[in-house]
Amino acid sequence: MKVSVIVPTYNERDNLEELFERISVSLADYDYEIIVVDDDSPDKTWEFARQLSERYPVRVIRRTDEKGLSSAVIRGFKEASGDVFVVMDADLQHPPEVIPELIRAIERGADVAIASRYVPGGGVKDWYWYRKLISKGAIMVGRLALPKIRDIKDPVSGFFALRREVVEGAELNPVGFKILMEILVKGNYNKAVEVPFTFGLRRAGESKLGGKTILNYLKHIYRLMCWEGEIDRLIKFTLVGLSGVFVNQGFLWAFVSKLGWDKILANIPATELAILNNFLWNDIWTFRDLKRKPLWRRLINFHVAALTGAVVQWIIYAALVLLGVHYLLANMFGILASFIVRFLVNRHVTWG
Ligand code: GDD
Ligand code: MN
Repeated sequence: MKVSVIVPTYNERDNLEELFERISVSLADYDYEIIVVDDDSPDKTWEFARQLSERYPVRVIRRTDEKGLSSAVIRGFKEASGDVFVVMDADLQHPPEVIPELIRAIERGADVAIASRYVPGGGVKDWYWYRKLISKGAIMVGRLALPKIRDIKDPVSGFFALRREVVEGAELNPVGFKILMEILVKGNYNKAVEVPFTFGLRRAGESKLGGKTILNYLKHIYRLMCWEGEIDRLIKFTLVGLSGVFVNQGFLWAFVSKLGWDKILANIPATELAILNNFLWNDIWTFRDLKRKPLWRRLINFHVAALTGAVVQWIIYAALVLLGVHYLLANMFGILASFIVRFLVNRHVTWG
């Protein structure tokens, strides 16, 4: 089995020698190659990498026509001749000693092995608590938005190994820089596992990512949601919800004005009928391809979601009103929160 280690670089000259040396020690028992994809770095990383290729099995691709971390990795996939691809950073934040563990996970049957900061035994060195919080929060948003990656604790890691078949023929879009997330959504694989590692400190040079990172990340998630059909579901769920408003109002009117029922009590069956209406349409339309649970369970879970949504709506409403927000505006925020909660509970549990 041949291993191709793909290393995207931009101004990493001072890290290369140690990187190559530690990779060569780690992979001493393997047939391997290192593919450096450099975007014409001003510090001439590509030139130094070529010099080092006399001592290490390194191939250097110097790109002058294109830039960007993800597209560099994709280019590396195209050039690689191995059966297993490993992707890692050049700055030694990804310890090369972990590579054999990733490869062993693949040998044991995984298609993708992720070096993960967020499984037991993994971590990050010297990050303030708020940096961790932002990182974990961002990952949580991704996992909730994309059910396919919901079991992966660190889907944005830049350090991973995979069988070549996973990305061969996959339509990878190089726009976002979370290439692993792109692969986990679009790749051809059955089993993805995580191997703990500690994200170390940069050895030399400086980080290139940052700045517009969060906005780009959200855009990337949105594009992947479109690809997965999750945005379609969100739109259908919204339309069904709106139909429920009419059902609710219509029955309430009929019960009170036509049948003369008590106004307070009539609201209960009117609401239940709206819930049943919404369930029906979501079941045969929004989530029709996801009926994995028996009907009675879906029905119960849908009610749980409705109840949870109502409670959340009320809590947000009450909190905002107490903070002095106008009650109608407060209710709008409550409704929005309830909508998100209901969509997520239904997507992950009812039709999960
Ligand atoms: N070819 C190329 N082109 N390489 C690039 C580019 C580019 O435009 N931008 C960055 N790189 C290379 C760097 O030289 C380094 O080897 C690697 O990509 C990671 O860049 P850093 O600047 O060190 O990123 P980071 O440490 O902030 O982020 C890392 O950790 C994240 C998780 O917290 C990366 O591994 C991310 O992918 C990862 O999500
Ligand atoms: Mn780094």
